[in-house]
Amino acid sequence: MTPREGGTLPQISSLRGGATLAIISADLDVKCALARDTARRWHERRLSLRSPLDPPLPDRPGRPAKPELVPPKAVGKRSLHTLPGRVAMLHALAHIELNAVDLALDIVARFAAEPVPHSFFDGWMRVADEEAKHFGLVRDRMRALGADYGDMPAHDGLWQAAHSTRNDLTARLAVVPLILEARGLDVTPSLQEKMRETGDLESAEVLRIIYEDEKGHVSVGAKWFRFLCAREKKDPAATFKELVRVNFRGALKAPFNDVARAEAGLTPSFYRSLTSTSNG
Ligand SMILES: [Fe+2]
Ligand SMILES: [Fe+2]
Repeated sequence: MTPREGGTLPQISSLRGGATLAIISADLDVKCALARDTARRWHERRLSLRSPLDPPLPDRPGRPAKPELVPPKAVGKRSLHTLPGRVAMLHALAHIELNAVDLALDIVARFAAEPVPHSFFDGWMRVADEEAKHFGLVRDRMRALGADYGDMPAHDGLWQAAHSTRNDLTARLAVVPLILEARGLDVTPSLQEKMRETGDLESAEVLRIIYEDEKGHVSVGAKWFRFLCAREKKDPAATFKELVRVNFRGALKAPFNDVARAEAGLTPSFYRSLTSTSNG
């Protein structure tokens, strides 16, 4: 990614401008470099929050021609005990990380005019930066295994979740960090363990790094979700349940990683009654 840094990235007008340009970019190297560069400059306090020169935010993020996007059910199950199975798992993970880059940037760009402290944007730009790092780590690992992102179809469910919460920051935080990213905390440890059992220690290490960072992402989500609820004098757990019922299709899947979730500020009172086996 370094050759593009500094010289050939498009001009960034502000934090919102940089985030928007990264979302628009269909070149994934440019997208990730822009996300990381914007994060660095924002954290160094070299960017304003918004500028009249910021490009308009698109409805959908820029993406390359491949992978083909298909309905979630059309993406098959995979065994990690074969190389194609591991590659398919890494491909699905790369796709999740890429969506996560756009989702974090979208929170920043779309809600840049919300009356929230600047530290709100610090948190989400750290998330965007780490998601771009994750995408790069997974993609590098795929390339080391002779594959690449784009080789197989991927599903389009994650962006759908974002789109349905585009007008409500509290709902967006309920769905993106507190459902989708928290799900990562539930499934990653066992995936990491299985990867280690197959002897693919490099992929297991990538999963370990992602897992450690994702705890922080859920924690940023929970912190600001609670902040917005407190400001509105609403009960966070009850508000979460209400927003999930309206904005998220389907039940949450147990088992939950209660310890990691609680450490991030997401206590069982939020999600227990939303599982498929409960009438809650
Ligand atoms: Fe990630
Ligand atoms: Fe994340």
